[in-house]
Amino acid sequence: MLKVENLYKNFGNVKAVEGISFEVKKGQVFGLLGPNGAGKSTTISIISTLLKPSGGDVLFEGNSVLDNPASIRRKLGVVPQDIALYPTLTGYDNLSFWGSIYGLRGSQLKTRIEDVSDIIGLNGRIKDKVEKYSGGMKRRLNIGAALLHKPELLIMDEPTVGIDTQSRSHILDTVLELNRQGITIIYTSHYMDEVEYLCNELCIMDEGKIIASGTRQELVELVREKTRINIKLNKMDEDVLTVLRGIEGVVDAKKDEDSIALFGSNADVLLADIISRVSEKGWLIETIDVKKPNLKAVFLHLTGKALRD
Ligand SMILES: Nc1ncnc2c1ncn2[C@@H]1O[C@H](COP(=O)(O)OP(=O)(O)OP(=O)(O)O)[C@@H](O)[C@H]1O
Ligand SMILES: [Mg+2]
Repeated sequence: MLKVENLYKNFGNVKAVEGISFEVKKGQVFGLLGPNGAGKSTTISIISTLLKPSGGDVLFEGNSVLDNPASIRRKLGVVPQDIALYPTLTGYDNLSFWGSIYGLRGSQLKTRIEDVSDIIGLNGRIKDKVEKYSGGMKRRLNIGAALLHKPELLIMDEPTVGIDTQSRSHILDTVLELNRQGITIIYTSHYMDEVEYLCNELCIMDEGKIIASGTRQELVELVREKTRINIKLNKMDEDVLTVLRGIEGVVDAKKDEDSIALFGSNADVLLADIISRVSEKGWLIETIDVKKPNLKAVFLHLTGKALRD
């Protein structure tokens, strides 16, 4: 659906984007993960034809958006990082404003506003002024504005920054629901847990470059970090250690202060095998705790620094 090819963007001496390429397939939730200043918003502005690249191209359904910006604009919805709403107008009037920009009028516009208010969960408050909204409600309205013209591709630039947990989980559910309805989504974030939860495929960006891409599983495999399982049994001697070490898939086992740390790669299989072996022996598990490698570990591994949080 969308191909970004060797994209560059300089702002004077600042190299905001330095030769990035990726492909988003129809039906995906595609993640763009990266810390402050990675170049995520710049990339989005180029895709949505608000900015011209210094080099490279963006192909939407096979055609360059540089040659024909209208072709993508009609099918694209963008949720900007900075909220673009009129605080003194009601939610309804804000949607009405954005709808008219997309060419919607009359009853068609009214129906779409009602549908969209439903999707973003604001129908009860849509006639209130935006200045009375919480941060989360503003974010949701901001998403609504991008949905009015039924886009096929929706780009969301950090849509959950600075909001309460409830609004955040509402937004994440909305993303999945929109995707189920057939909308392809590019989701930008610096929260790796969101990207892990939502995205089939992702790119990790840092300082204008893509430092890793693939499925979540492929990325996690980049770090040779193993799943770690800490287990505490009612019996904790050398005999236990020997038995646990003998389980297939356990590559290492060592005694920590009052528990045993086991390392291996396939967390779920490993966990099942450990539990069944322990119960065969008639031992009792007092505590068990599983730590799988995550995208945070991937980022740290690749850059030597942490994401924002
Ligand atoms: N209009 C501009 N003029 C000059 N420099 C800019 C402009 N827009 C972005 N930059 C610079 O380009 C780099 C990438 O910025 P960008 O906003 O794309 O990053 P980001 O990944 O979206 O970061 P954040 O997570 O903070 O939103 C930064 O160094 C930024 O200061
Ligand atoms: Mg940004």
